Amino acid sequence: MAMAIAFSAYGGPDVLHPIDIDPPLAEAGQVRVRVKAAGVNPVDVKLRRGDFAATMPIKFPCRLGNEYAGIIDQVGDGVAGFVTGDEVLGSATGQAYAEYVLVNAADVVRKPADMPWTVAGGLPAVGQTAYTALRQIAVQPGDTVLIHAAAGGVGTMAVQLARLWGATVIGTASEHNHDYLRSLGAIPVAYGDGLVASQSPTRPRDRNGASA
Ligand SMILES: NC(=O)c1ccc[n+]([C@@H]2O[C@H](COP(=O)([O-])OP(=O)(O)OC[C@H]3O[C@@H](n4cnc5c(N)ncnc54)[C@H](OP(=O)(O)O)[C@@H]3O)[C@@H](O)[C@H]2O)c1
Repeated sequence: MAMAIAFSAYGGPDVLHPIDIDPPLAEAGQVRVRVKAAGVNPVDVKLRRGDFAATMPIKFPCRLGNEYAGIIDQVGDGVAGFVTGDEVLGSATGQAYAEYVLVNAADVVRKPADMPWTVAGGLPAVGQTAYTALRQIAVQPGDTVLIHAAAGGVGTMAVQLARLWGATVIGTASEHNHDYLRSLGAIPVAYGDGLVASQSPTRPRDRNGASA
């Protein structure tokens, strides 16, 4: 058997408990990853607390976890580019709090060798969210981007990507996070009245990249 973490009633972290599951087996195009670290995201907390109980009924015991980092220990037929022992990270909807995840090889990314497991396990969701949002507004060198909650998980990734892509970044955060934002290359500002009027956020562009 393999171990997974689930909850069988809504509540705080204390409702989480281990369950036994059949060890998943990699099918064609899939890899099985032995999980070293799994990220905890706001959506996990909201689901476990029952915030979605009215709109998204679930069956107990319900498993959790959408992102992982770990070591490939089984490779399905037809998978090229990965072998057992490779250190990887990625998304694994609703199954990452577990000993193993089963994922499509096409959705797996190599973990940089010097990246700690705990960082790698918390990277996929915030990274993907920040990347998608910044791509949506087509951030380009010379843009000025306003990022709210810039010191949070998603914000931290968004600040770094926008800086990497050549933008000036203004980030909202509590005062105690301002030095942190400066260390990422952002200009920190506090939340509060008058914020919108005092800043010039990047606006969505049309398909030709012009300002819209
Ligand atoms: N984590 C993910 O993968 C993911 C994916 C998709 C969507 N989301 C959503 O994105 C949001 C942020 O997620 P996260 O993971 O980055 O959360 P997080 O790490 O907990 O960060 C939340 C941030 O919100 C800021 N904040 C607190 N009060 C605020 C206010 N009144 N106005 C503006 N910002 C305020 C805090 O900044 P200070 O501490 O500086 O005050 C904190 O840094 C959540 O709504 C989450 O559901 C997250």
